[in-house]
Amino acid sequence: MSAIRFLSGITPSGTPHLGNYAGMIRPAIRASKAPGVESYYFLADYHALIKAQDPERVHRSTLEIAASWLAAGLDPEHVTFYRQSALLEIPELTWLLTCVTGKGLLNRAHAYKAAVDKNTEAGRETDDGVSAGLFMYPVLMAADILIFNAQKVPVGRDQIQHIEMARDIASSFNHLYGEHFTLPEAVIEESVATLAGLDGRKMSKSYDNTIPLFTPREQLRKLVGGIVTDSRTPGEPKETEGSALFQMYQAFASPEETEAMRKAYAAGISWGDAKQALFECIDREVTPMRAAYDDLIAHPEKVEAALAIGEERARAQAAAFLVRLRDAVGLRRLSAPQSRKSAKETKAVLPSFKQYRDSDGKFYFKFVAADGALLLQSTGFTAPKEAGQAIAQLQKNGAAALADIARHLADVPGVEPAQVEAALNTLLDAR
Ligand code: TRP
Repeated sequence: MSAIRFLSGITPSGTPHLGNYAGMIRPAIRASKAPGVESYYFLADYHALIKAQDPERVHRSTLEIAASWLAAGLDPEHVTFYRQSALLEIPELTWLLTCVTGKGLLNRAHAYKAAVDKNTEAGRETDDGVSAGLFMYPVLMAADILIFNAQKVPVGRDQIQHIEMARDIASSFNHLYGEHFTLPEAVIEESVATLAGLDGRKMSKSYDNTIPLFTPREQLRKLVGGIVTDSRTPGEPKETEGSALFQMYQAFASPEETEAMRKAYAAGISWGDAKQALFECIDREVTPMRAAYDDLIAHPEKVEAALAIGEERARAQAAAFLVRLRDAVGLRRLSAPQSRKSAKETKAVLPSFKQYRDSDGKFYFKFVAADGALLLQSTGFTAPKEAGQAIAQLQKNGAAALADIARHLADVPGVEPAQVEAALNTLLDAR
């Protein structure tokens, strides 16, 4: 059984926070260790350019995110870990896909539609401030996935539409050029925690309510202390339901610890004590990784070296696939024969020659119709080259060559000369 291929991209546009860790980094690294799984994780730095046009920010964020994944235990020998921009095959494939993507499909993308709606509401022109990059986002993402023919794509709910579009785009390409792409499927991890941020809303950099994953220890303590709670006093029973603090505790504690905390809530634990327990719990998991992270940030060449492992592997694979795809669309050496796909189809519908050696040690050929019926049978040649020459004559001159090679042909009962001539002419016409 071959492995199932998982692939996902992380857009480097900020500093990773606890929500990214619990919601994506940790489950992805765990999943990569399962048997029968092949994982591709990459930094979607081309995607980052759509939103972030501050070069220093893109650069810094790429380093921070790569270092975070490595510090969190991603093994670059086992997982193919790379930067999207290290594979020039991705923008090349993007173009091949762009040409089979309906513009209407892209008009329906949620992110683009949201931008248009916002403009319309504000009375601006529909495409005001919308870059062609934002519009093309789904095609670039399809190329990310299809370049490795990934089967499973773990993503957040907001990305489901993009995976569906990748399937549509892959189908269009396959329909035109043959079955080159596997249709990918989104994987939505229901059990994974979406953490609430400091203010109780979903932890997200757009709400500015995050706790950075590798913030220094004392800063972590301070930030945890700032998580919103209600005004219940020590001793008053507290609700776990809807408690950002409890939910975060659950994401870092063992099931037993979580149960104990649930009881403590009911028994009226003070918010101060609950926060202290949460801080200790997060710190226990993060501290060993923080040391690795700080080291990687101080030595970016180590991150570069880790990425080089995956980039080399990914590049070789992508380049080989691109050769095939270029060929499929007709971008090939002028002296090259027709594409494999059409060559195969042609063979299937055309009559053909078959050469073989029989038990008498002599060399023979047969000419068979597209349906496999025998049309011509040669007599034995002493050398394979002679059989080849007779075939070449028939291929070149068609029925006109029959008289020249008549002495090498055995009688085939039940076959009309007209049938043979027609079949030979079909071959000539197909050339
Ligand atoms: N668009 C994804 C996000 O913002 C990131 C991404 C880029 C991605 N290319 C991908 C995810 C390919 C999965 C597969 O989350």
